Amino acid sequence: MKAKTLLFAMVAFLITNVHTMAQNDDKRVLVAYFSATGTTARAAEKLARVTGGECYAITPAQPYTDADLNWHDKRSRSSVEMNDPKSRPALAGKKLDTAAYEVVFIGYPIWWDLAPRVINTFIENHDLKGKTIIPFATSGGSGIAHSVKSLKAEYPALNWADGKLLNNISEAAMRQWTERIAAGVK
Ligand SMILES: Cc1cc2nc3c(=O)[nH]c(=O)nc-3n(C[C@H](O)[C@H](O)[C@H](O)COP(=O)(O)O)c2cc1C
Repeated sequence: MKAKTLLFAMVAFLITNVHTMAQNDDKRVLVAYFSATGTTARAAEKLARVTGGECYAITPAQPYTDADLNWHDKRSRSSVEMNDPKSRPALAGKKLDTAAYEVVFIGYPIWWDLAPRVINTFIENHDLKGKTIIPFATSGGSGIAHSVKSLKAEYPALNWADGKLLNNISEAAMRQWTERIAAGVK
């Protein structure tokens, strides 16, 4: 009877700890993204599947309406924000604890060849020092390079990896890309 109890305790201990270890492993990768109309969100979910990372939606306190997103209107919210490099739209919800993550993907739609200003708010409100930051984006055709160059110039203390545009990328191509980055991650 005692031996059985001991065995039971050992198995319970193992299950609990293996479970915790697996959770910690999963928590190494964060896929944080902002998406106004769902395209970047779909890319982020695919990326989380491929990397085993956790998805986190960067959510503006005030959601963007269709009128806000109208790039033909110079006075629309997105036009006003993107014309002002100091604009920092507020975030909804409480601050995310980033301590557990070593690799942080940051995803966004390309707006005027840049990352939306809410990405700046996210970066400035979270501790990302010492982590590998990997930008990704979706767009109507523009590349990601200009937005990444700008982020690197704004936050030179962060450890940036090359970003990638994830327009219509297959899961296999995504896996190849993340494996290549992983090989370079210290
Ligand atoms: C205000 C605004 C500006 C945009 N600027 C660009 C641009 O400069 N280049 C581009 O290729 N697409 C541009 N787009 C298109 C988006 O990048 C594209 O539709 C993206 O996939 C949307 O992602 P989401 O659904 O996650 O918001 C812009 C869209 C909006 C709303």
